[in-house]
Amino acid sequence: MEHFLSSMPKAELHMHLEGSLEPELMFALANRNGIELPWDTVDQVRAAYDFGNLQDFLDIYYQGAGVLQTEQDFYDLTWAYLKQCETQNVIHTEPFFDPQTHTARGIDIGVQIRGITGALQHGREQLGISSRLILSFLRHLSEEEAFTTLEQALPYRDSFVAVGLDSSEAGHPPAKFQRVFEKALAEGFLTVAHAGEEGPPEYVYQALDLLRVSRIDHGVRAAEDPALIERLIAEQMPLTVCPLSNVRLRVFPSLDQHNILEMLARGVKVTVNSDDPAYFGGYIAENFVEMHRQLGLNRDQAVALSRNAFESAFVSDGEKAALI
Ligand code: ADE
Ligand code: ZN
Repeated sequence: MEHFLSSMPKAELHMHLEGSLEPELMFALANRNGIELPWDTVDQVRAAYDFGNLQDFLDIYYQGAGVLQTEQDFYDLTWAYLKQCETQNVIHTEPFFDPQTHTARGIDIGVQIRGITGALQHGREQLGISSRLILSFLRHLSEEEAFTTLEQALPYRDSFVAVGLDSSEAGHPPAKFQRVFEKALAEGFLTVAHAGEEGPPEYVYQALDLLRVSRIDHGVRAAEDPALIERLIAEQMPLTVCPLSNVRLRVFPSLDQHNILEMLARGVKVTVNSDDPAYFGGYIAENFVEMHRQLGLNRDQAVALSRNAFESAFVSDGEKAALI
C-alpha cells in the first residue's frame, strides 16, 4: 500500500515554494550569500520546528526565506522541489510563492519569477512535470501593499495563473482584500485563498462570496458549519487539505482525529497536499502514507483524493484529460 501511495500519479495544488526549503539548502544558500543564520547545524534547525500554532511556524519560515537572494537561489529552491515531485510521481503541481517576503528585503519580483519559472520550465522539459504558478499575497500586510505587489507582477502576467492569500489568518479576513482580488479577477487571474485553517467558517464564506475563489486552501474548519459543508458539496468546491501541516500547526491534535476522510465520504471535493514540506515532516507522498497509517486511508479513498486534485487543477479540459 505504501508503495502504491508513493507511486500513484499525483497532482499537488497547495504548497509554498518557500516552505520546501530544506535545512541543507538553507545552509548552502546562507554560505553562498554570506548570510548568518541563528542556527549552527541542520539538526538545530530541525529541532526548532516545534510549532505551537501557525504564527510560530510563520516566524521561522520568513526567517529561513531570508537566504533567498538571487535568481539562481529561486531556481535551486524550485528545482529541489521538482526533484522531490519526480521521486513521488507528482506529475502536475501548482506551487505558491510569496513575493512580498522577498520584495520587503529588496529582492525584485522579476528576480523571483525568473528563477522560479526557469526551474518550472526545465521541470516540464526534463522531468515531464506540468505546472502552474500562484502568486500569494501576505494577509498580515495591508491592502495597499497587496495592490502594489499586483502592479509589480503584471509585467510577468504570463508566468502565473492565479492569486492567493496566505500568512496569519486570524484577524485578517478575506474581506480585507476584496478590492485587490476584484482587480486580479478583472485582469483575468483565477483566485484562491487560505481560509478555515485557523480562521472561522465565516472566512470561508468570505473567500467564496467576496474573493470568488476557485478553490479553498485548507477549509477544514468549514466542518463546524453544516450549511457551509452543504454548500461546498453542492458547488463541488475543491478544498486543498494539508494533513501533516494541520497536525504540526495544531489545527488537529493528531492525524487520527483529522476530518479529511469524513469530508470525502460526505462528498466534499477534498485533496491532499504538503503545504510546507520541509517544515512539516514530508512531501505529498508522506501525507498519503501517514493518512494510511493513522487514519486508515484505503486504496479507493487514495485514488478518489488524487482524482479530485487532477479535476481541480487550473488546466484546460484537454490537458486534464491527458493527465488523468
Ligand atoms: N504560508 C506558508 N504556509 C502557510 C500556511 N499553512 N498557512 C498560512 N500561510 C502560510
Ligand atoms: Zn498553505
